[in-house]
Amino acid sequence: MRKSSQKIVCIGAGYVGGPTMAVIADRCPDLQVTVLDVNLERIKAWNSDALPVLEPGLDQVVARARRRNLRFIPQAEGASYLAEADLIFISVQTPTKTTGRGAGKASDLKYVEAAARLIAQYAQGNVVVVEKSTMPVRAADRIKEILKQSKSRAKFDVLSNPEFLAEGTAIQDLEHPDRVLIGGENARAIDKLVQVYRRWVSKEKIITTSLWSAELAKLAANAFLAQRVSSINAMSALCEKTEADVEEVAQVIGLDSRIGPKFLKASVGFGGSCFKKDLLSLVYLCEHHGLPEVAAYWEQVYHLNEWQKQRFMQAVARHARRGTVAVLGLAFKKNTNDFRESAALDVCRGLLQSGFKVQVYDPAVDFERFADFLGRPVRLVHASTVPEALVGAKAVAVLTEWDEFKQLPWAKWRRLLARTAVIFDGRSILNQQALAKVGLEVRTLGRTRPL
Ligand code: UDX
Ligand code: UDX
Repeated sequence: MRKSSQKIVCIGAGYVGGPTMAVIADRCPDLQVTVLDVNLERIKAWNSDALPVLEPGLDQVVARARRRNLRFIPQAEGASYLAEADLIFISVQTPTKTTGRGAGKASDLKYVEAAARLIAQYAQGNVVVVEKSTMPVRAADRIKEILKQSKSRAKFDVLSNPEFLAEGTAIQDLEHPDRVLIGGENARAIDKLVQVYRRWVSKEKIITTSLWSAELAKLAANAFLAQRVSSINAMSALCEKTEADVEEVAQVIGLDSRIGPKFLKASVGFGGSCFKKDLLSLVYLCEHHGLPEVAAYWEQVYHLNEWQKQRFMQAVARHARRGTVAVLGLAFKKNTNDFRESAALDVCRGLLQSGFKVQVYDPAVDFERFADFLGRPVRLVHASTVPEALVGAKAVAVLTEWDEFKQLPWAKWRRLLARTAVIFDGRSILNQQALAKVGLEVRTLGRTRPL
């Protein structure tokens, strides 16, 4: 017989599934929330004091809820929880396909399909299946097909409830979202999920749409955000040629209320697990639907980003000649330990391939994982402090805007660097004038001619 309090299961305890379920459990003490993952190490970490995801505020939320109504368990032990669940979230990864049709662009739905098969195998009764992962438009059809073709006697509804949290501010974004988007076909199923969010999100902020609009809106939102970064990064290159200052240009643009000030920070390129993957997924969708001009438009947002990382890396290489380069910041943005698609990967890879020794420091990223990702190059050296990274460097590349990089004692550390050392600020966080006083030249993207 079915239980009285609602039960939620989430497949995937990653950067999205973990924090999202923790906040749901925290805000809905009467709901039982169970998060499954095939990765046993991750599950172990979620049950420890050293969570696998670094997010300001996450520790407290997890600690509160874990004592009460939040569980992290191995997927292999999830059958009974799936059987009892009213709502099942799919929050597994949707990486870019590496082989087959659409390789290099289309999203790979194999993990989503595996999750759908798992649900079909164990779920019972009336179950609402919620797409939390970012999907290509009409992915819900594929989930429905798998559920329908299974021998399951459960009755399924599929909703799309894409996540808009940004890493580093995930808890804030989940607790105070700009909007919650729920796409679906069945009003009762939609209402079931609306009632979960209604515990802490006001009615006006919960938007309900068709399934297909919800799926596309997520891709579109990420593409628009990425496009703003590529737009300001394109301007940064022109600023370097014309002596205009990209920070001043961004300030002026941002004061136009139609444009707004956010996402106008020039950088060494956007990273993270979403922007590149979602842009390419959108490009593939456009190509698939016979819209080559639309595909080319969005693809250029991606190309500009690749170019920005390369031109920054080349500027560093031109200055450092064959010497040592210090890299400060491996994470794709501050306040996260995530380095997926981070500029540091491309900048380090490029420098290492050109024969440089690269000494890297990051306050949160696990160096061993970063080094593994690059194939453990011998000239990639771990520094456990900033000064350790600086020793003997001919160039310093600042790639992440960590707060601790904003106020470093450069006067004290100047002597660690090579005499002709130059700092390349890929995030515009250093004070050029102050550093000039201690004899250090800083070249900032979009603000120095030439970079
Ligand atoms: C999420 C979304 O799901 C993705 O679509 C979006 O674009 C970015 O954010 P994220 O949480 O960052 O992905 O991915 P990840 O940290 O890799 O977490 C996914 C987890 O799902 C992994 O821990 C993986 O082990 C788990 N998984 C995958 C399962 O537990 N079962 C499976 O069958 C497949
Ligand atoms: C993004 C979306 O913001 C979020 O809504 C979605 O759910 C997932 O994808 P995320 O990738 O975690 O979130 O971080 P975000 O803050 O968007 O930053 C992405 C990249 O763009 C970072 O590398 C960041 O440094 C860069 N960026 C952002 C800039 O270079 N300049 C800016 O002005 C803003």
